[in-house]
Amino acid sequence: MGERWYTESVIYCLDVETFQDSNGDGIGDFQGLIGRLDYLTRLGVNCLWLSPIHPTPGKDDGYDVTDFYNVDPRLGTLGDFAELLHQAANRGIKVMIDLVVNHTSDEHPWFQSAISSPDSPYRDWYVWSAKEPSDRHQGMVFPGEQSETWTYHRRARAWYYHRFYDFQPDLNFSNPQVRSEIKKILAFWIQLGVAGFRMDAVPFIIELTEPGDPESPLDFGYLSELRSHVQWRRGDAMLLAEANVEPEKLPQYFGDAGGTGNRIHMLFDFMLNGRLVLALARQNPEPVIEWLRSTPHLPPGGHWATFLRNHDEIDLSRLTADQREDVFAEFGPDPDMKLYDRGIRRRLAPMLDGDRARIELAYSLQFSMRGTPVLRYGEEIGMGEDLSLKGRYAIRTPMQWSFAKNAGFSAAEPVRPVISKGEYSYQKINVTAQREDDKSLLAWFERMIRTLRESPEVGNGTCSVIDRTLPQGVLAHRADGPTGSMLFLHNLGTEDAVLDLHELFPETNHPNEVFGDKAYPEVGDLSELSLGPYGYRWIRLRRQNV
Ligand code: NOJ
Repeated sequence: MGERWYTESVIYCLDVETFQDSNGDGIGDFQGLIGRLDYLTRLGVNCLWLSPIHPTPGKDDGYDVTDFYNVDPRLGTLGDFAELLHQAANRGIKVMIDLVVNHTSDEHPWFQSAISSPDSPYRDWYVWSAKEPSDRHQGMVFPGEQSETWTYHRRARAWYYHRFYDFQPDLNFSNPQVRSEIKKILAFWIQLGVAGFRMDAVPFIIELTEPGDPESPLDFGYLSELRSHVQWRRGDAMLLAEANVEPEKLPQYFGDAGGTGNRIHMLFDFMLNGRLVLALARQNPEPVIEWLRSTPHLPPGGHWATFLRNHDEIDLSRLTADQREDVFAEFGPDPDMKLYDRGIRRRLAPMLDGDRARIELAYSLQFSMRGTPVLRYGEEIGMGEDLSLKGRYAIRTPMQWSFAKNAGFSAAEPVRPVISKGEYSYQKINVTAQREDDKSLLAWFERMIRTLRESPEVGNGTCSVIDRTLPQGVLAHRADGPTGSMLFLHNLGTEDAVLDLHELFPETNHPNEVFGDKAYPEVGDLSELSLGPYGYRWIRLRRQNV
């Protein structure tokens, strides 16, 4: 493993609550997850990102925290969490947690104190306005479910600011006490042994909100402060930020592009996410090529995290209206599949009609991109969604382990219904069935993840699109790093394609196919490479003398 572990990792994101119940109360827990670490080891992932684990009233699935220094008792104790860290470390798996500090729950003791009196020591920990702010109805993140960002609080006799739901009051980052408390929270979890943080809502954390100013100034300096604080405590600790902003704003989150970069280590590549989905919908790699070519230059150590699905809707807001319509038409045709007018609340397998070839193509594409792949639990077996559940809960159903009652997730009534009807029911899609079948999607993921992990040039090296006229629908790109080079071919279309890349790689000696959708004739000199419909090939380009 290189110096920066996160550049050579595969991150698996899961919600402890819906992963595995161990004590029969219907709620997933740390002990249940510990029992599944061997499964994750076999899958080949080496970092877990846990959705929020803190005590919460659960109005936004844990993104509404009431105590940052503890774990939700329904998931276990701090002792169980420490045991999880230990057991994961024994297997070479790092654990990251979600850090949700832009806001608290309105039930958090800090907010309860803040509303009790203007003299409360916590009053200034939140963002207030004595008068109704003129931008009260601007900047909502959940259109349709949220009508304002400033709400009048009767008890406090003032308006408070909330970027998200009204039960998620924003903390006041202009207040030095808040800033130092957040540092303390980070240090606390680092001390326990977490490897890093998935930082929620970063563009809003650095916002110095003033009533009536919807374009409040941003304090990027705070990110530098957090970075150095974290790294003083643990040299290799990592910050992975959720910052779904315009591309030209991204470099500021990483830090100085000309220097070493001193803010966030890794950002989710939301642009790539939208473009991958668009490319799949149009069966044309152009949107991905365009983004790979225009990706901002990152400082050394700055890194992308790629994803196809996460726990939220697929956010298509950075696509043009036409592009969005194409994606909706292909992958979210029913109004019920759409969310917040900008996204799709589905898992990938059903979006692709369960077409195995297309699912493989999609994930091969994601995993071959520069950056670190993030994989959402259940995607490795092709789980589906439950559209009868509200909003984003459709894609947050319990993990489907086996044919047993409740998919082997729990002996009791599960916290959220297990999918038990149709093509994606646990009786049809589950880990047990797929473990026994070496042609299953799960077996495919195991192989792909292992291939990626033995190819550090993909995460560490440069990624470039091969500049050549190729058959319709085909993307050719390569990864080059100190350890070698890899050529990737993907056919997003349904026509057979033949490529001649011979002249492009004069330095190549004995190219070697390491992964593909089927057994192609042995790679000779790259002058006649075939690709089937939705086909993909990973070809190691061996250099002279290597
Ligand atoms: C982004 C998270 O991904 C989302 O699930 C949550 O609702 C908001 N932040 C608020 O914390």
